[in-house]
Amino acid sequence: MIANVKEMLLQAKEGGYAVGAFNTVNLETTRAIVEAAKELRSPVIVQMTEKTFDYAGGRAIFNLVKNIAEFYASDIPIGIHLDHGKSFEVVERAIDIGFTSVMYDGSRKEYPDNLMMTKKIVELAHARGIVVQAELGNVPYLGEMQMETIEWDRYMTNPDQAKQFVEETGLDTLAVAIGNAHGFFRERNEPDYARLSAVASFVDVPLVLHGASDWNNGRVGEVVKRGISCFNVDTATRIAFIGGLREALVSEEETDVRKVLGNAKEHVKEAVKNKITAFGSAGRI
Ligand code: G3H
Ligand code: 13P
Ligand code: ZN
Repeated sequence: MIANVKEMLLQAKEGGYAVGAFNTVNLETTRAIVEAAKELRSPVIVQMTEKTFDYAGGRAIFNLVKNIAEFYASDIPIGIHLDHGKSFEVVERAIDIGFTSVMYDGSRKEYPDNLMMTKKIVELAHARGIVVQAELGNVPYLGEMQMETIEWDRYMTNPDQAKQFVEETGLDTLAVAIGNAHGFFRERNEPDYARLSAVASFVDVPLVLHGASDWNNGRVGEVVKRGISCFNVDTATRIAFIGGLREALVSEEETDVRKVLGNAKEHVKEAVKNKITAFGSAGRI
């Protein structure tokens, strides 16, 4: 069933666990995420980016996810979310398509611009009962960066600013930067746990951690204790998908597309189940 993302994350915050938000690009990944959540009796978020709208068609992928959630998992709360909407137009497009949860990502902008745009998007979305996630600080894409050492202080969320950002924009959930990074690359040696606790003490909205593909159980438990209610995962499931494809393509005689893609789906499902178990959301339904 389609569920309200804000309510889902508030419940996770209350229950001391976190919900996984997994990126999808196609039928196989979507079914893998939904089947994993269903088998583990876990709430889950299925999310898409603008690049996936361009690849699959925004309406096509949205309605695929919606139909799978409604007809194959009517007893499992499933949030459908726009991930990393980088402009007003993309967020508007997602709302027009039917998304009830959107991220506006102004994290690469100067603070006043991020504040102003986030506020504008919250006004647009809240008028239609839509939930908004925004990002303060910046969770970098280290794969795009050449430098050897990362000046983490430049990226991380400022707790005082977070308080002002949440109060002034009225956002629903906040993506934080505490040494986490996108991709299977480097993260900061240790997440800045004290910074996370400070942010959590200043704001009462659920906090989201992007780039959780390479987060192990120890780190996961520590940040959930300190206020994270949602983890975003993409690279780990992409790697699982490609691994499953490679395995199924070993035989040059195989011509059944369903067998090849079905194997990729099974690999993604296993990766999603591992994450759901680590995040503590299994058995919550
Ligand atoms: O954080 C972003 C996700 O990994 C999605 O990446 O823009 O290639 O869909 P994408
Ligand atoms: P990873 O690809 O590092 O798991 O990050 C996913 C993400 O943050 C999607 O928004
Ligand atoms: Zn992200």
